[in-house]
Amino acid sequence: MPNQDSQRPASERHVPVLLDRCVNLLAPGIERANAEGRRAIVVDCTLGMGGHSEAILQRFENLHLIGLDRDEQAHELAGARLAPFQDRIDLVHAVYDEIADVVEDLGFPGIDGVLFDLGVSSLQLDERERGFAYSYDAPLDMRMDTSVGPTAEDLVNDLDRDELLRIIRQWGEEKFAGRISTAIVEARAKSRISTTAELVEVIRSVVPAAAARNHGHPAKRTFQALRIAVNEELDVLERAIPAAMGALNIGGRVVVMSYHSLEDKITKRHFVQGSTSSAPPGFPVELEEHKAEYKVLTKGTEKPSEHEIAENSRAASARLRAVERVLKRS
Ligand SMILES: C[S@@+](CC[C@H](N)C(=O)[O-])C[C@H]1O[C@@H](n2cnc3c(N)ncnc32)[C@H](O)[C@@H]1O
Repeated sequence: MPNQDSQRPASERHVPVLLDRCVNLLAPGIERANAEGRRAIVVDCTLGMGGHSEAILQRFENLHLIGLDRDEQAHELAGARLAPFQDRIDLVHAVYDEIADVVEDLGFPGIDGVLFDLGVSSLQLDERERGFAYSYDAPLDMRMDTSVGPTAEDLVNDLDRDELLRIIRQWGEEKFAGRISTAIVEARAKSRISTTAELVEVIRSVVPAAAARNHGHPAKRTFQALRIAVNEELDVLERAIPAAMGALNIGGRVVVMSYHSLEDKITKRHFVQGSTSSAPPGFPVELEEHKAEYKVLTKGTEKPSEHEIAENSRAASARLRAVERVLKRS
């Protein structure tokens, strides 16, 4: 049975994180397009419930927005929310590393802004039956796109212990990954692990109570790891950031909000690479071909204020970075 949240409109279910800062960071790229007599194109790579997209469309009247999401349910909610802007939007069911193809297929030569608000949405966490949350009992699914790919249940029951260990250690940064993967393999030998509650029980049985008291819910990191694995989140992000940067017009900006250090590291590496001159050390003058094509706009990462975190606890782990394209080699 759907839980009560399913009935509520998107605007009541999700509070967009760092909303004003994101829109302000995108603004100069949009204004530059307007000043050049072009219609600005912005891609929201993580449409979710359309909160950021709605604010961008409201602030910039001429702008055209492309909204991507791999989750069909997000499209239903965001589509309803953004209906007043329907002649200025294209909502596309796609994985965000397809950004360049989507933009080209829609016939746009370049874009002026890209937003990534990474991770899971409130929608995915609150819809209990989707199996993202360790706090509700549900089928062990965790797919953002429920039309394709293996579920968390498939991974938990089919991967060998070493692969489970690698995933839980690397992507969950879980200290007890060894014990947890052994316990999973032992438990599934007795009966298939099919629900979130069954998996939580297995994890609880091997994580020391003191560790659970000090480091949050004992299943938190394993669930994060499985979610990343099911959706291949980091591999996709690794391709998507350079693809988004490459699609920018001069003056265009990419803004990324990460929710854990693995996402932020990938973002940082691509931003640093793109903004570093390739001139050999000691070269007297910087040749055109050595000049960096991007400029980093944020000092380290930016974080939400205490006030925003108090109002919206999901903002607590957000870390924002942004770059601008300053040069385009033909
Ligand atoms: C944190 S939510 C975005 C919330 C949105 N900014 C808002 O204001 O409502 C992240 C969204 O990105 C989507 N998503 C995550 N990874 C994706 C990917 N690789 N490709 C496309 N969409 C993705 C998720 O399905 C989810 O709906």
